[in-house]
Amino acid sequence: MCAAFALAQQPGQQASKADGKEWWRDAVFYEIYPRSFADSNKDGVGDLMGIASKLDYLKDLGVDAIWITPCFPSPQIDFGYDVSDYENIDPVYGTLADFDTLAAEAKKRGIHIILDFVVNHTSDQHQWFLDSMSSRTSKHRDWYIWRDGKGPEQPPNNWISDFGGSAWALDPTTGQYYYHMFHKAQPDLNWRNPAVKDAMFDVTRWWYKRGVSGFRLDAVDTLFEDPNLHDNPILPGVNVFGDPKEENKYNSKLPEVHDVLRELRKIADEYDAVLIGETWTTDIDELNRYYGDHDNELQLPMDFLFTTVKKLSAEEFRKQIAAVNLAKGWPAYVISNHDIVRSYDRYGDGEHNDQIAKLMAGMHLTLRGTPIMYYGEEIGMKTTPPSRKEDVKDPIGIRGWPQEKGRDGERTPMQWDASENAGFSKATPWLPIPDTHKTHNVATESKDANSVLAFYKQVLKLRHTNDALLEGSYVPLNEKDQNVLSYLRVSASKSVLVVLNMSGTRQTSHFDFSKQRFSQIHKLIATGESSAEGTVITLGAYGVFIGELK
Ligand code: NOJ
Repeated sequence: MCAAFALAQQPGQQASKADGKEWWRDAVFYEIYPRSFADSNKDGVGDLMGIASKLDYLKDLGVDAIWITPCFPSPQIDFGYDVSDYENIDPVYGTLADFDTLAAEAKKRGIHIILDFVVNHTSDQHQWFLDSMSSRTSKHRDWYIWRDGKGPEQPPNNWISDFGGSAWALDPTTGQYYYHMFHKAQPDLNWRNPAVKDAMFDVTRWWYKRGVSGFRLDAVDTLFEDPNLHDNPILPGVNVFGDPKEENKYNSKLPEVHDVLRELRKIADEYDAVLIGETWTTDIDELNRYYGDHDNELQLPMDFLFTTVKKLSAEEFRKQIAAVNLAKGWPAYVISNHDIVRSYDRYGDGEHNDQIAKLMAGMHLTLRGTPIMYYGEEIGMKTTPPSRKEDVKDPIGIRGWPQEKGRDGERTPMQWDASENAGFSKATPWLPIPDTHKTHNVATESKDANSVLAFYKQVLKLRHTNDALLEGSYVPLNEKDQNVLSYLRVSASKSVLVVLNMSGTRQTSHFDFSKQRFSQIHKLIATGESSAEGTVITLGAYGVFIGELK
């Protein structure tokens, strides 16, 4: 019987804690870029009531939590990642009353709301910064990082901003430089100042009391800087903006970050909330640190290692999955987001893109961990970067053109139907609608049993009702196979086999489960010509087979 299966508890894989408090373990998260999801007030920009109008769609899709990227008042230089008031809603997205309506409607459907907390910096239009820059002795002066230049027209050190150029901007009024890791309109907060910590912690309480179930913490790596401002080591070459490349040794991933995360977690625990981290880790040790020594930091540090796999490769994905399964906490997987080329294009070969989108879903949604989807992934939305500099909206693209075209391409409006504006808005959308909306949209795909959307729904439905997929351990199989990635998910009552053909040719995979006393594989979901004969699985190009061992 299944219970005899020897591999039910793999080393490093925690047993279930899905006792209601850890609702986020079994949940499927869905990232919404609010500008681009649904426009309810006909101004060409998405908004909160637009999101509210799509909650039934999300519920039906199988989404349990939505992460809304910043919707707070903002000059929108970095489209919301420059917050000028943490405790309100930007008029372009609606009002606090709209937020309350959205929260109530989401709650009715059992959908949690996660907000995006921009912790590293504010907008230069935030009252705190306006006061900070008003004089060297202002109340909020020390809420940001101010320093004298090294000499006339020389910034305090060699740190380069992620958005290009020096990370220091001179303020002519007070004659000092302020530090900005990102755009100069995004001054870094000084997290060494206890008043900053208190104010930011209070922001989280304020939203928890309003019904928010957690936060995605933006750019957590960069909260602290070396107070002595050592120069960063210079690396060979230049970046896309033409600046010297450097190692962010003194302005990123400083250990003090973890003290803040522990404090944020304490507050989150009071509200049964989840903290998700924008954690660009390079290895498992770094990822582990974000969980904390005693499960006391982030519950879900996002694992971005998948996004570094440049092309479909069973071997590469197997390696990444194995690594994250050894992490001391519950994995959180991402394949696309608003900052990177969509997985549809990263892995698509131009010919089998939809099949490959299903393949990626077959993997993303059946791994041991919490999947975080990105809007449009479920309909096979394409990345469509601007073709002319004058059309670029993203500050990175404006500065970096043509080497860096920016992130507009992965932020185009959600494609609801085949009409002119894709059912996103009655007005001209803030970013153009890609032509592919005529074939890849919710309305058309809802009528097609073979669509990418239909496949997502099928797998999500299975995932929600199958305890092996929810909580089972991960057992890699056929680890030498270069073309086919296969694994089992094993719980006390079920064993589910997932077989993914990462090649464009037909493949046959042989399995032997006789020791575990299984002789049959019962098909649950399969794409293309994939099928099972005893314990032999045949897969079409980029085919997916998911089955239960019997
Ligand atoms: C990471 C966000 O995902 C990105 O969109 C933003 O530009 C930077 N942090 C700065 O907040």
